[in-house]
Amino acid sequence: MIILAKNAGFCFGVKRAVDAVETHIGENIVTLGPLIHNRDVVRSLEERGVACIERVEDAPEGATVVIRSHGAAPQVYDALKARGIAYIDATCPFVKRIHERVRAAAEAGQRVIIVGEKGHPEVIGTIGWAGSGAFVVNTEEEIAALPHIDEAVVVAQTTITQEKWEQFLAALESRVDHIIPFMSICSATQQRQKEAAEIAKIADTIIVVGGRQSSNTRKLYELCRKSCKNVYHIEHKSELLLAKMHLGDIIGIVAGASTPDSMIREVFDYMMENEKALQVEGEGIPSQETAASDMADIAAVPQMTEEVSVDKEPDVALDPTLKETVEATVDTTNEQDVSEATATDAEETAQAENNAPAKQDEKNEFLEGLEKVVRLKKGQIVKGNIVQITDEDVCVNIGYKSDGIIPKSELSIHDINPKDVYNVGDEIEAEVINLNDGEGNILLSRKRVEKKLNWIKIQQNVGTDILYKCVVKKAVKGGVTTKIEGYNAFIPASQLSLKYVEDLKQFEGQELEVTLIDADKKQERLVASHKTVLLKEKKEKEKALWESFKKGDRVKGVVKRLTDFGAFVDIGGVDGLLHVSDMAWVRVKHPSDVVSEGQEMELVILSVDPSKKKIALGYKQLLPKPWDLVPEKYHAGDIVRGKVVRIVPFGAFVQLEPTVDGLIHISQVSNRRLDKVEDELRIGDEVEAKVLEVNADKRKISLSRRALLPVEERPAKKANFEQEEDFHYELPPVQESTVSLADFFPKKDD
Ligand code: F3S
Repeated sequence: MIILAKNAGFCFGVKRAVDAVETHIGENIVTLGPLIHNRDVVRSLEERGVACIERVEDAPEGATVVIRSHGAAPQVYDALKARGIAYIDATCPFVKRIHERVRAAAEAGQRVIIVGEKGHPEVIGTIGWAGSGAFVVNTEEEIAALPHIDEAVVVAQTTITQEKWEQFLAALESRVDHIIPFMSICSATQQRQKEAAEIAKIADTIIVVGGRQSSNTRKLYELCRKSCKNVYHIEHKSELLLAKMHLGDIIGIVAGASTPDSMIREVFDYMMENEKALQVEGEGIPSQETAASDMADIAAVPQMTEEVSVDKEPDVALDPTLKETVEATVDTTNEQDVSEATATDAEETAQAENNAPAKQDEKNEFLEGLEKVVRLKKGQIVKGNIVQITDEDVCVNIGYKSDGIIPKSELSIHDINPKDVYNVGDEIEAEVINLNDGEGNILLSRKRVEKKLNWIKIQQNVGTDILYKCVVKKAVKGGVTTKIEGYNAFIPASQLSLKYVEDLKQFEGQELEVTLIDADKKQERLVASHKTVLLKEKKEKEKALWESFKKGDRVKGVVKRLTDFGAFVDIGGVDGLLHVSDMAWVRVKHPSDVVSEGQEMELVILSVDPSKKKIALGYKQLLPKPWDLVPEKYHAGDIVRGKVVRIVPFGAFVQLEPTVDGLIHISQVSNRRLDKVEDELRIGDEVEAKVLEVNADKRKISLSRRALLPVEERPAKKANFEQEEDFHYELPPVQESTVSLADFFPKKDD
């Protein structure tokens, strides 16, 4: 028995790209990279003038460049535009969807993780859209090597297996706090893999047809190997190892998305041709060369693809996820004429091998048998043109012997009047719900198609930012239930709020905006999240807030927390740091000396770094510097009090207030002659003095203690520094006034 997979051959995206090139054959076009992973197809295109270039720079003058279904990075489009090169973008829409998602993530400042092969063209293209911070992981070791990430949008190469996707999402939880999965495995790939796995479970031998460069073909091979021992990956029928197959074997044929139908057909036909040889257990097995030469005969028979063409079979919907392929599983034991002939009379079979016309008849018999298999099925999607509209139904010509009837009740998910929406001649897709409505017509439903399309759209929106409105129906265990677009939906408690929710009942009757985080196809049930919406809103608010902060702006804030090095101040949703050194112009031992928790204060923004989410705040910058007030506070002739803070050979510095010192020159210390200042003063002494001169610009205040003392009878001996004017000291420049004048002079014992 030979089982040919229904989902074999070109997928929607590859077919689209190949068709795009085929329509322009003969024009000056080139493909950027091999159009598909199939050498025969690429060679055939080359022979027909479609060259393959590796870089945009290699495009010949005046050529149109085709971007293949794998897609390309934005830099490629930029390069094409910069050079004025025309291009045809054949990027598969499913891949485009990934580009859009990762681009949106990158624009929102979200990290992107791509699960796939780094060197695969699709992944290379996706990286380009995902921004510079994107990671690609293909092994669990690579996941383990990731840095710790707060939040990441995770996408997959379209052809990875569901199993790998689930495994990797679980493994990523150890590195990423908040994973936003975007289910990007192509549904065509999923179906193909699922079917291949099912065939592999029952087959003795599996033949995987497709290019060795093709990632999805290699994955089919690996998948089949899990349940079948004899799996052969071939690119061409000549690689078939018939000797390894036996009479009675179930042989499955599966093929990758870049395998042309003609190649699958060649393999299928070759197997059919040689099944007789298998039955004699190797005695009559033809060599592969002989078998290949037989193909010349086979080529003369009608093509299998013709048998399932639109003339015989109604059109199927273009959407690959809706596409129901015709019955292509051919059990040759059902082909009574063929199997009986081959099983019962080996001699006759041998004659037939040497008799081309007889073989032709046999082939035709087989194809007739195949045609019988080709039929409408319940659930199949068909396409046709409307031939009649009444108030009650719509009659559709679906290219079959009977017309299709869509009753009004099956026309739409909405309540519509057929004549208001449709016109005679309109094309319409519908699902077969009954092969005979009692009057020989085929009963169709457009409503079911709309429902499926709606479901597909909804599935595509899973993991995206698309918002849905819903009203919470009921609080149940672990969450709440609701309806979204007519489907049952569940919002887990953890997805209702940014905080833990104690009472779920409070949500009953509330209208919420949600995004979709999962869709259960079997039960047509959705899982939604309101938390994603709240998180996004929070981020947007934060972003706007950060953008509103400018260096130099005055802001009001409330002190939230004190540390040894400063205070964190909430300035309206964002915490800024007020460093201890920016609290006052004087030295502050501990922030609690200046501010306290809960204190409201006005501050100035010293610097903003939105990328690191850091704001430095200043308080002292809004206060006058002590020396700025000196001219107002101190005047020549004033009597002041202060503490001796430093003694130097030429005098004593007296602190009048923090950071404001005055100097009593040695000649002004006493009314008697002094050899040294210490003969009269000690550090820490409280002294009274008269202000002789104030020079705020130079931050100098000259003081005299002597002026307040009674005049000594004996004139004071000239000190070492006889005249005050003899002494000049220059202050080193300082930016801030948190030091006092005395700090610039060494202590006596320094
Ligand atoms: Fe597109 Fe899926 Fe094919 S992503 S290229 S339809 S395998």
